[in-house]
Amino acid sequence: MKILVTGGAGYIGSHTCVELLEKGYEVVVIDNFDNSSPISVSRVEQITGKKISLYEADVRDTAVLDKIFSEHKIDCVIHFAGLKAVGESCAKPLEYYDNNLYGTLALLQAMKKHDVKKIVFSSSATVYGSPERLPLDETCKTGGTTNPYGTSKYFQEIMLRDLYASDDSWTVVILRYFNPVGAHESGLIGEDPQGIPNNLTPFIAKVAVGELKEIGVFGNDYDTPDGTGVRDYIHVVDLAKGHVSAIEGTPNNGVYTYNLGTGVGYSVLDVIKAFNKACGKELPYVIKPRRAGDIASCYADASKAKRELGWEAKLGIDDMCASLWNWQSKNPKGYKS
Ligand code: NAD
Ligand code: UFG
Repeated sequence: MKILVTGGAGYIGSHTCVELLEKGYEVVVIDNFDNSSPISVSRVEQITGKKISLYEADVRDTAVLDKIFSEHKIDCVIHFAGLKAVGESCAKPLEYYDNNLYGTLALLQAMKKHDVKKIVFSSSATVYGSPERLPLDETCKTGGTTNPYGTSKYFQEIMLRDLYASDDSWTVVILRYFNPVGAHESGLIGEDPQGIPNNLTPFIAKVAVGELKEIGVFGNDYDTPDGTGVRDYIHVVDLAKGHVSAIEGTPNNGVYTYNLGTGVGYSVLDVIKAFNKACGKELPYVIKPRRAGDIASCYADASKAKRELGWEAKLGIDDMCASLWNWQSKNPKGYKS
C-alpha cells in the first residue's frame, strides 16, 4: 500500500513515516520545508533502511498534486501539512487560513479528481476550545476556539464532514492529538522548533542544553493539584503508531474521530521534575504570569481509540523526557547540528 504523507518532514510526520515504512508501507512525502528540513527525511531513511519518494513543494500547488497522484497509485493520504503556532496565528490569521484551509481544499480536490478517497487528518485537542468536561471524549462540544490556528482545525474538520455527507464513498479519519512530546529512540529525528520554542517541553530541552537560561512556568494559581497547568502529554512514537492503527483499523466509508492521548494529565512542575530525572540536572525555573488563552487542565478520554482501533499509548512521561533528552543532547541545534 502506498501512502502520501503531506508535511512528512515535520515532527509528527517524520515519526509517522518511520512507523509506516517499518510496517511495509510505501511512502511518498510532500513538504515545502517551511518548518522542517530535508535532513529529517534522510534520517528516516537511515533509521528504516527504506527509501521515500520526496516532493519539495507546497500542498497548495495543484500542478504538483496532479503530478504526484499521476506518478503514484496512492491508497491513502495522511495530511499533516499546515502551520501550527497558536501565537503566530493571532498575528498572521490570513496566512494561517490560506495555508491550512486552502491546503486542505487543494488536497481534497486533487484526491477527488484522482479517485483517492481515504484521508487521515491531523486535528487537535484545541478544537474542544475551553473543555466542556474532563476527560474530553469525542462527543464533547467542539468550536469556541480562541485563535485562528484552532479555528482553522475546526473548519477543516467541518470541510471533511461535509465532503463525506456529499459522497459516502470517502473514508475520513480525524485524529485529535493532545500534547505530543519526545523523539524516536535512535535520537536521529525529533522536534526542531525554529527560534524560541512556544511549547513547554522543547523549551525545557533548550534550557537543559544551555541555550536558554531558565524555564518560565506560566501561572501557579490554577485550580490544579500544584497550581500549574495540566496537559495530556503523549509520546510522539505512540502518536505515530496511532496513524498506522487509524489506517488499518477503520472500515472503508465513514467519518471516524479519535482522541489520541494517554488519558493522564501532568502539571508543568511534574514535567520539569521528570525532565530533571532524564537529564540528571536540576533545571532552573521561575513562576511567571498566566499565558493569555491558556486553560487550567486538558486531558483525553482515549478509550474510543482503544476500543475501536486497538490502539493505546504505551509510553509514559519518563520515556518521553528520556527520548527528548537523547535527541536534544545529540542534536543541540536540531537538524543544524
Ligand atoms: P511541523 O511544523 O513539524 O510539521 C508540519 C510540516 O508541514 C512541516 O514539515 C512543514 O514544513 C510542512 N508544511 C507546512 N505548510 C505546508 C504547505 N503548505 N505545503 C507543504 N508542506 C507544508 O508540525 P507537527 O508538530 O509535526 O504537526 C503536524 C500536524 O499536526 C499539523 O497539522 C499540526 O497542526 C497538527 N498538530 C500538532 C500538534 C503539536 O503539538 N505538535 C498538536 C495537535 C495537532
Ligand atoms: N507552559 C509553561 N511554560 C512554557 C510553555 C508552556 O509553563 O514556556 C505551560 C502552559 O502554560 C501549559 C503547558 O505548559 O500549561 C503546556 O503548554 P504548551 O504550549 O506546551 O501546549 P498547549 O497545551 O498550550 O498547546 C499544545 C499545542 C497546540 C495544541 C494543544 C493540544 O501548542 O497547538 O497542545 O494538542 F492544540
